[in-house]
Amino acid sequence: MIQTVNISGQEMRVAVIGAGVIGLSSAQCIVNRFQPRVNPLTVVIYADTFTPDTASDGAAGLWQPYVFDEEKPEEFKWNKETFDYLLGYMNSPDANKMGLFLQSGYNIFKEPVPDPSWKDIVLGFRHLTANELKLFPGFSYGWFNTALMLEGKSYLPWMMAKLKEQGVQFVEKKISSFQELAPDFDVIVNCTGIRAQELQPDPELKPARGQIIKVYAPWMKHFILSHDLRSGVYSLPYIIPGSKLVTVGGIFQLGNWSEENNPKDHNTVWENGCKLVPTLKNARIVEDWTGLRPVRSRIRLERQTFNTGPEKFEVIHNYGHGGYGLTIHWGCAMEVSNIYDRILRERKPSWKMPSRL
Ligand code: FAD
Ligand code: BEZ
Repeated sequence: MIQTVNISGQEMRVAVIGAGVIGLSSAQCIVNRFQPRVNPLTVVIYADTFTPDTASDGAAGLWQPYVFDEEKPEEFKWNKETFDYLLGYMNSPDANKMGLFLQSGYNIFKEPVPDPSWKDIVLGFRHLTANELKLFPGFSYGWFNTALMLEGKSYLPWMMAKLKEQGVQFVEKKISSFQELAPDFDVIVNCTGIRAQELQPDPELKPARGQIIKVYAPWMKHFILSHDLRSGVYSLPYIIPGSKLVTVGGIFQLGNWSEENNPKDHNTVWENGCKLVPTLKNARIVEDWTGLRPVRSRIRLERQTFNTGPEKFEVIHNYGHGGYGLTIHWGCAMEVSNIYDRILRERKPSWKMPSRL
């Protein structure tokens, strides 16, 4: 039987670097799971960008992993945990405050493709009928399913409000090294997204620049993601209706660090989007947005112990979520809290913690 022990009197201090979806959810999982037991538990979130200015705010927010992902059992598990966690909120009055809602739509292809690994995670996954395919000239194969939307512009403020209620502190500051925080914290959680290399070299981490157009087109009710296997690009073009605006994408430029909107990319996105759905021509263009996906061959979610200085400290890395950070964030945050649990147990082996949230 799991014994829940209240660890009073011994302060534990955790710093989280990053206030995007990954940093806030990592802090949320640690606080939810350990605040009742580790007393006092101090959690401080450091970031130089907060909502509404992070990459997590600009993303459309569709729950969908990559369609052609290789075998990555851990990421499959974290994606599923996130979907199930969010689905659990669907019947809660908080759902709309979180920016959470159901949305159905299409993935379309130019040739038959294997089913995605996540077909049993989403709701009602099925192949398109010949009649449905007539909606998409030039495409001969496709899927339909119901997924979730999680809009960062609502979800991040919702998480921040909860964290503040739970006593988490927020500090606006650029962090230059882990050592800068080490004297004051036992554990540092690194959720710096595409900027992780500022703190530690990581040749695996690359930006995949995206540029999207947000338009007013309230008649669009389904997401449509088109794919061309031969182009080597996982998604192009796409249309994702949000609660207020429709997102039209998608540029995917590996290695491009520019965060400026580019008029040539604007034209490409717009022309391709209007080809896919001609009524978009009647939509009012509201804004362009450019963001960098933190791409890695796999997410870096692991512990690193630093023994170099006089103090020993632990870093839990959680970055490199590519174009699926909102899709996978909660499973990753739970894994962060599992690693934190192991660190606590090592420090005080007699402590018995519940091993699950
Ligand atoms: P960010 O949101 O970038 O947050 C990083 C945080 O770290 C910021 O607060 C920043 O200030 C802080 N930081 C970094 N370095 C430092 C430092 N040295 N000191 C202090 N603070 C620091 N994902 C989906 O799941 N669904 C989608 O529909 C989707 N659409 C997308 C569309 C586009 C065009 C793009 C570009 C991405 C999309 N994504 C989507 C991917 C998603 O946006 C990312 O995976 C996610 O935002 C990554 O979150 P993050 O918290 O790691 O990074
Ligand atoms: C993107 O990264 O552009 C993206 C992510 C998820 C769904 C659609 C697009």
